[in-house]
Amino acid sequence: QTCHRLLLPSLPRPSLSLSSSLLGLGAVASLTAYWLATRPRPMRPPCDLKAQSVAIRGDPVCRRSALNKSDCLLYFYYDDIRTAFAMFQRGLKIAGDGPCLGFRKPNQPYEWISYNEVAEQAHVLGSGLLVKGCQPNPQQFVGIFAQNSPQWTITELACYYYSMAVVPLYDTLGPEAMVHILDLAEISLVFCDREDKAASLLENKEKGATPTLSCLVLFKDFGRAFAERARKCDVEVLKLEQLMVSGKEPPQPQDLAVVCFTSGTTGTPYDVFDCLRGFSRRRRLRVISPLCFAHFSISSLFFFFSSFLFQGSFEIRQEDVTISYLPLAHMFERMIQFSMFVHGARVGFYQGDISLLMDDMRALKPTFFPVVPRLLNRIYDQIMASVTSPFRRAVLHFAVRRKQAELNSGIVRNNTLWDMLVFNKIQAKLGGNLRFVLTASAPISPTVLSFLRATLGCLIFEGYGQTECTAGCTFSMPGDFSTGHVGAPLPCAIVKVVDIPEMNYFAKNGEGEICMRGPSVFGGYLKDPQSTAEALDSDGWLHTGDVGQWLPNGTLRIVDRKKHIFKLSQGEYIAPEKIENIYMRSVPVLQVFVHGDSLESYLVGIVVPDPEVFVDWAKERGIVGSYQELCENPDMKKAVLEDMRAVGKEAGLKSFEQVRDLHLHPEMFSVANGLLTPTFKSRRADIRRVFQPQISKMYKKTAN
Ligand SMILES: *[C@@H]1O[C@H](CO)[C@@H](O)[C@H](O)[C@H]1NC(C)=O
Ligand SMILES: *[C@@H]1O[C@H](CO)[C@@H](O)[C@H](O)[C@H]1NC(C)=O
Ligand SMILES: *[C@@H]1O[C@H](CO)[C@@H](O)[C@H](O)[C@H]1NC(C)=O
Repeated sequence: QTCHRLLLPSLPRPSLSLSSSLLGLGAVASLTAYWLATRPRPMRPPCDLKAQSVAIRGDPVCRRSALNKSDCLLYFYYDDIRTAFAMFQRGLKIAGDGPCLGFRKPNQPYEWISYNEVAEQAHVLGSGLLVKGCQPNPQQFVGIFAQNSPQWTITELACYYYSMAVVPLYDTLGPEAMVHILDLAEISLVFCDREDKAASLLENKEKGATPTLSCLVLFKDFGRAFAERARKCDVEVLKLEQLMVSGKEPPQPQDLAVVCFTSGTTGTPYDVFDCLRGFSRRRRLRVISPLCFAHFSISSLFFFFSSFLFQGSFEIRQEDVTISYLPLAHMFERMIQFSMFVHGARVGFYQGDISLLMDDMRALKPTFFPVVPRLLNRIYDQIMASVTSPFRRAVLHFAVRRKQAELNSGIVRNNTLWDMLVFNKIQAKLGGNLRFVLTASAPISPTVLSFLRATLGCLIFEGYGQTECTAGCTFSMPGDFSTGHVGAPLPCAIVKVVDIPEMNYFAKNGEGEICMRGPSVFGGYLKDPQSTAEALDSDGWLHTGDVGQWLPNGTLRIVDRKKHIFKLSQGEYIAPEKIENIYMRSVPVLQVFVHGDSLESYLVGIVVPDPEVFVDWAKERGIVGSYQELCENPDMKKAVLEDMRAVGKEAGLKSFEQVRDLHLHPEMFSVANGLLTPTFKSRRADIRRVFQPQISKMYKKTAN
């Protein structure tokens, strides 16, 4: 159920052994000599950092990157590279027999598969898919249900060889969501890494769900009994090697490359990339959202990094290595891999155990480390916790301040005296070879960011985006070491802010909902025109739901999340989603919708009790009955209401923020019944409409 939990092994204490000789005069002299010898040159930013974005047609809230000389967006960085497949082909041309994908067995060095071998394997595997009846067109969806590994990437490339689209599945989706995806995309063939994952898919088929599933391909060995069990329900099980044969036909730019299913729960918006967080039972994922992407979005975005190419000091080179551990089921990690491939660079996979990540880092010595803020926070906390004595602490802070001062003059390096004395053991823990780090998926605290910029002595970029825009929207400019913003629009994006009057954000003040347009914006949700229309307006603007503010130097700051807000008749403002998130902590509550309006003076709620706990929860209160009966039982309603109000009180809800009455509803809000968006937000207007009779009844009853 849960995904990776980050358990980093403890980082070493910074070495603070200032020898006494350093305090002598001789030391000062040698220090000066040392400084002169290693005096660095500051980094030249690619544009004026005081004007990082440019207003389009004189509209100051609609802006593009200052890197482009005209309002035309960058669609393709290299004219001939228009698909993810072509990106790989470019790397293949550059690197040939050079290393491409790396993996390691416990306590062993990394072993590498060359570009030529990867291409060959992908090609024959793709042909194998054709043999199994997959059609070479973008409406053919192939499932992958596996942890990051070379086989994952080879399988993805195999699909692209024949224009097929990849649908990543992952544990945290939960069984119901998995069934929904497999049916929606009519998937017949799924690649799995291990027998247990394949078995969970088989279980659905045995129950009569996912009728289209007919073939499972495993990366690892499986037992005879399993194959037998599969045969009984008409599913063929193969090992990866068995599927390899030959053929050829690369995809066209407009074709779908990837169908990416993002996850979340009602009322609990999860960041689409943030799956390093374990999900608690109560927040288990229930529904999924299918998104479609076109090939060209991937290639216009690969210059997530490459757009800074022309600056020389910062570009991905063939020698670069990244470590792959963020789930490949998310766009962010896929973008990174293809950004490496296009330059013929290397991708090393972690062993599959996040607690061994630091060990893998030491063995791989990556130059590029993609991270989520949570991981950087861990590293920061561990460094801080390891420095206990006040003296050491003072030295550490002093060293950090010296390095920060250098950063402010544009110098990034890892060979100062402070690095040798204080920071190099920390750097060594991360492999000792980092050139750049990219953090995305959630905001990072300015303190942690500037501390680590000093400590790690490498470039740390911050990006902002979401799955619907292929993970990228804005990116911090090389050479900008300030914090508290997410940089300027990527050269492939136009970003504007629009009014949210109910939250008091107005574009004329440079604040509002962030909207984005450009080639990396997604094509729509799979088979869901209504949701597509809600996310993408008729002019092609993607409405992100985040609230941003333009800063005077043309960078964007994320200030809030768009919320639904209304006023009660006595004039109090209510943010229902905040209240719903609190009520979700009540044990019997699975889903909750809080309603109120300016004609009423209090709130009411629609609650879907959790089918898994509700019956037992009732029994503990001496009430016996089926789930359905309990939902209609007024005593149960009272008990749930009391529990919710107690939870609300504990969480500090004011009395006007508490619901006064409830309706218990036995059927979950879902994408299928139209009450959730594909990104699992409640469709508030629809829920209100559907439950209007119950809502009216509650108000009438309590009024009397
Ligand atoms: C946008 O900028 C990139 C990088 O400078 C350049 O290659 C591209 O031609 C520019 N596009 C336009 C239309 O100016
Ligand atoms: C310092 O950075 C360079 C790359 O910029 C890298 O090659 C070197 O290994 C790094 N040294 C340490 C100690 O991290
Ligand atoms: C950009 O503006 C923000 C807010 O005014 C500031 O914090 C940041 O330091 C500025 N960055 C640069 C590079 O001037």
